[in-house]
Amino acid sequence: MAYQLSEEQEKIFYGILEELCKNTRILESCQYMQHGSTSVFRHSVSVAYVCYYLAEKMNAPVDKRSLIRGALLHDYFLYDWHEKDASHKWHGFHHAKRAWENALRDIPDLNEVEQDMIRCHMFPLNPIPPKYMEGWLLCCADKICSGTETVAGKKLKMRKIML
Ligand SMILES: [Fe+2]
Ligand SMILES: [Fe+2]
Repeated sequence: MAYQLSEEQEKIFYGILEELCKNTRILESCQYMQHGSTSVFRHSVSVAYVCYYLAEKMNAPVDKRSLIRGALLHDYFLYDWHEKDASHKWHGFHHAKRAWENALRDIPDLNEVEQDMIRCHMFPLNPIPPKYMEGWLLCCADKICSGTETVAGKKLKMRKIML
């Protein structure tokens, strides 16, 4: 399935991305791997893009700016979770809280929808569900992208073995 925003939507999307790149530490996540060979930064951009695409397709009643910002920041945990370190233990369970704390510290105008999106994006692994439509879209987009990245990573590994 191809996800493609219109030119006008892409302008909005990349405008918000640029803003966050200038005003936060999100670019640091380029150095941390998420799934397969995908960095946390690339994963976050893909998730936000798919989120926005789904919202537009469904004509969902969402605040687009919050949707894009919350999605871009959902994995703003800023560490390499593959590194063996006591503070990275149970990453799946704890990183949403860490991302939320980092975002709260770095983004003074982080609103309630964005905060809830970040805090609850690991539902159902974390048992508290999102309160807003923006958060539900994020949960779906995150799982779609994570699945695709994991499969792509495995295919790449297989290709390397066969060469
Ligand atoms: Fe996450
Ligand atoms: Fe994610």
